Amino acid sequence: MRPLHKLSIAEKLQHTGFIILVCFGLLCAEVYLFVTHTGLDGKAGVTLKDIQLSYAGNPHSSKVQTVLPTMLTNAGVPKAEWPADKAMFDHWIAGGETKAEYDAKIKPFIAQHCLMCHSVAMSKQLHNPPLVTYNDVKAVAKVDTGMSYTTMFMTGMVHLTMLGVIFWLAAYLFVRTRAKDGLKALLVIVPFLAMMLDFSGWFLTKQNPNFAWFVLIGGGLSCPIAALELILSFFDMWVGLPGFLRGNGAAEA
Ligand code: HEC
Repeated sequence: MRPLHKLSIAEKLQHTGFIILVCFGLLCAEVYLFVTHTGLDGKAGVTLKDIQLSYAGNPHSSKVQTVLPTMLTNAGVPKAEWPADKAMFDHWIAGGETKAEYDAKIKPFIAQHCLMCHSVAMSKQLHNPPLVTYNDVKAVAKVDTGMSYTTMFMTGMVHLTMLGVIFWLAAYLFVRTRAKDGLKALLVIVPFLAMMLDFSGWFLTKQNPNFAWFVLIGGGLSCPIAALELILSFFDMWVGLPGFLRGNGAAEA
């Protein structure tokens, strides 16, 4: 293919239509990711914590942890004892809710403070869950474990293939501009690498929340850099590039 600025009007219009549509598409992708991730941690903007909550879940999100202060009030437990009680439940849940720890700590505590309202008979009257057996209590201790692997693979299938094609097309246009060769090489490869970083970050963040950086950096670079390639292609095609971006290669001719 000839350099972009040498194309016929019809060819330029073909690429321009593509560029405009895809740039809006990429913008929508970023906005969508922003609104679905922002504020999960209660703070504005997309933070590392938001990403950790989306992919790794929240280890303090179980029903029993959420309602514990209310229930301790119900049970008449003095406020001074709350931190120790909360720590006891947190420890049991973080450790995978073992039967041994349940028998040693949780069961006696519940028997003393909760069963008066959470026995099988009372729970029918009060419309609350029974907390009699190990499985009863485990059921209210289920935490949000974040995005499932199935969803990750499904999203990956769609994202990696769709964006792979879009990034390839953006690069196909951009290498035909008059930009510096080094700049071309850099902008062409970054979206692909960033996408891989983002995708692997989902899985790694599930294992270890510190990897949320991968998602933030990968997501922040992939689509915006591809959009930049498209925008620069658009300008090179119709009006030319500013001097500091231009190479003195053969495409100049
Ligand atoms: C005075 C009665 C009473 C006591 C004592 C009590 N609860 Fe409850 N509990 C309720 C009632 C009523 C509900 C259902 C309505 C609600 O969610 O507030 C409930 C609901 C719950 C739920 C389900 C919440 C949901 O969103 O589905 C959990 C979990 C729970 N209690 C745990 C406990 C634990 C643990 C204790 C002991 C520290 C306890 N409760 C002590 C009355 C009690």
